[in-house]
Amino acid sequence: MPAAAVSDSKAHKFNPNFTAQVLAATGPNVNPRVKQLTHSLIQHLHDFARENELTVDEWMMGVELMNEAGRMSDAKRNEGQLLCDVLGLESLVDEITYKLATDAADEPTATAILGPFYRHDAPKMEMGSCIVHGIKESGDRTWMHGTVTDFKTGAPIEGAVIDVWHTAPNGLYEQQDPDQPDMNLRGRFTTGKDGKYNFYCLRPVPYPIPFDGPAGKILTALDRHPYRPAHIHFLLTAPGHKPIVTQIFDRSSKYVEDDAVFAVKDSLLVDFLPFKGDPNAEFELPYDFKMATFTDAKEGKLGGSTEESASL
Ligand code: BEZ
Ligand code: FE
Repeated sequence: MPAAAVSDSKAHKFNPNFTAQVLAATGPNVNPRVKQLTHSLIQHLHDFARENELTVDEWMMGVELMNEAGRMSDAKRNEGQLLCDVLGLESLVDEITYKLATDAADEPTATAILGPFYRHDAPKMEMGSCIVHGIKESGDRTWMHGTVTDFKTGAPIEGAVIDVWHTAPNGLYEQQDPDQPDMNLRGRFTTGKDGKYNFYCLRPVPYPIPFDGPAGKILTALDRHPYRPAHIHFLLTAPGHKPIVTQIFDRSSKYVEDDAVFAVKDSLLVDFLPFKGDPNAEFELPYDFKMATFTDAKEGKLGGSTEESASL
């Protein structure tokens, strides 16, 4: 449909009072933010239906897709979130949240989507530990290290918790793979006074997001692939600082230009460096994290989308 027709939501042949009638049904005791969000959603949904002359059969297909996503979801799989991811919604909301949270010229570490594979209560580990278990030597052991600092003062942050997770060389997170030990390739590390951290992990690989459900149906319908570039996930928390949910991406990985869930940002591209002299690692990955205090944040909004951030 031509752009002009799509944007002209008033010029239609349907009941001109219908949307106003639905909006007017709202009661007086509604929370203002709930009213803003639901009224805007209703307006956009109605405009969408009218502009595209959505039929009952097409609408029912959409309902069935959402119902199927609900049926597939459990503690180990979040198909609703996956649907949002392939539509770019989680990455867009992540960008909006980050921009609201900072207006500084020198910015904290950029955020990226949480994704559906985060698990609470990853094992707490000593600095220098290895998060890899039960995986045969595959030539991709990596020593990751760096410092967590306050982005404004540059001071090291003590007590920062770095929660890390990534896939195995077969492209599966441990909860997707009965052959991996529970909590494999996950760990939580707490910085001391110097703000430094280090641990052993693997150089990750690109992998397909699960495409055996509604998200996969959308990808197929749009003639798209399901792959994500090689990446490592992080959730950083620290006393007095805003949590950071982010991912770093192997610059040389396939799909960095073409992430199925649109999460790659230039500042999150990293280089795995060949590492000599350590029998436990073939690669070195230096990476520093910069965090903002709550007072640095405009309106006290938080970067990232975790239950932790919502409750702080
Ligand atoms: C992930 O990187 O874990 C992920 C993100 C979005 C959808 C599926 C997986
Ligand atoms: Fe991932």
